[in-house]
Amino acid sequence: MRKIYIFDTTLRDGEQSPGVNLNTQEKVEIALQLEKLGVDRIEAGFPAASPGDLSAVNAVAKAVKNCSVIGLSRSREQDIDAAREALKGAQDPCLHVFLATSPIHRAHKLRMNKEQVLQAAEAAIKYAKKYFSKIEFSPEDAGRTELDFLREVVEMAVRAGATVVNIPDTVGYMTPAEFGNIFKMLRETVPGIEKIQLSAHCHDDLGMATANALAAIMNGADQIEGTINGIGERAGNTSIEEVAMALETRSDYYQAKTGLVLNEIYRTSRLVSKLTGMVVPGNKAIVGANAFAHESGIHQDGMLKEKTTYEIMRPETIGLKESKLVLGKHSGRHAFREKLIDLGYSLNEDQLNTAFSKFKVLADKKKEVSDEDIRALIEERLVEIPEVFRLETMHVSYGNQSVPSATVSILQDGSVLEETAEGNGSVDAIYKAIDKATREEVELADYSIKSVTHGKDALGEVHVVLRQNGYSVTGRGVSTDILEASARAYIDAVNRLLEKRKTTGGIARDRVSLI
Ligand code: KIV
Ligand code: ZN
Repeated sequence: MRKIYIFDTTLRDGEQSPGVNLNTQEKVEIALQLEKLGVDRIEAGFPAASPGDLSAVNAVAKAVKNCSVIGLSRSREQDIDAAREALKGAQDPCLHVFLATSPIHRAHKLRMNKEQVLQAAEAAIKYAKKYFSKIEFSPEDAGRTELDFLREVVEMAVRAGATVVNIPDTVGYMTPAEFGNIFKMLRETVPGIEKIQLSAHCHDDLGMATANALAAIMNGADQIEGTINGIGERAGNTSIEEVAMALETRSDYYQAKTGLVLNEIYRTSRLVSKLTGMVVPGNKAIVGANAFAHESGIHQDGMLKEKTTYEIMRPETIGLKESKLVLGKHSGRHAFREKLIDLGYSLNEDQLNTAFSKFKVLADKKKEVSDEDIRALIEERLVEIPEVFRLETMHVSYGNQSVPSATVSILQDGSVLEETAEGNGSVDAIYKAIDKATREEVELADYSIKSVTHGKDALGEVHVVLRQNGYSVTGRGVSTDILEASARAYIDAVNRLLEKRKTTGGIARDRVSLI
């Protein structure tokens, strides 16, 4: 079996998903989980984008021990210097330098001709070579680059000292046959290509990112770049869990494997979804809530007789297991702790106490507390941020013939802030009341709600995205009542906003465009 290296870019390209903004602590938490998942390389960010990005990459570089940590850089010396600074302390640092090569990007974005592109990229690789032993070079928009010129660029990169050459289908334009053909051509024609690794980086604009990555593997790619849950710019990137499970399930066909610890996939997916606020669609391959659910009578009958009738993968393989231990209001701390271990969580005593009290409150409202309920409770506040505002009580008045109104009381530093407001709906009224109490002017950029489990007493999970003066933060709230979950998510986001303002000294990060 050929080993396929996994380059995870959840923290860089994934973080470029609209509305996603991870703080340093969250980035480190995801990076440590990616390390457990066994990815080979972690692209932690784009250090030149802002001082905040630089220090987040540095924190990841210092925290991660068993995989290479990578910083992205344009083909400019100051970007490379920022990445050098950020990667100080990494066990195995690597620089990812890129420059666009397609005719469209050359003409309209860079205003450079082919010769200038070749020279700028070569100069950047040579400059980086002074400081890095591992350098990945990406000809951005390689998919739409003339094949002859792409071959020339890759040849230059190999000569200049790149150790990995990545072929990005930046705009998700390629078909699997075309993309595979690029790898075949490079393998067959570039002198010295056997000395470096070839990598594939795909976007999902036409829904072909995973198929294109697999086509690249079939034609000689050594590495796949992607994100957990397929998050990323626009329609997202190749989903790492899809590639890993395709290689695992169809190893007879691909004759290649990743080094991933497959039973960490589900936990990683949940963590990324929670911290980015990007809900995984129910029908998402591998990690969606329905990926292993069987609805029709015929399928259920088949499953009961023999699982392989309708299941090509076992849920346990990705770490999705329903244990037999069902918890309820009579369950004690011991059973609760055992359940957490069973679900793969390791909490310290304080975290366990908080989680246990939340569990007791929930168990009073629900007859049976499912594994999903427990995951939702535990994951609610794994990344601690100071709770400047805390929801104390709320009262909502709604009638289909009257204007909804809400009264909230919020604790701040021991004092109670109580406000009432009317709104277009119950949630709107609650949010207006919270705005009055916190005196924060925020824009609600996104709101989504989902049921964590099934049934009338299911937990509802609300995600919001709030914006204020260039800042964008996500908040999450869970409760058996969707209005309360909505209030909690909003207050969580306001607290994150305050924290963000504090840690960035009031300067919102301006996204540096990738040019
Ligand atoms: O999609 C892309 O081209 C990128 C590059 C920076 C590699 O993300
Ligand atoms: Zn990309």
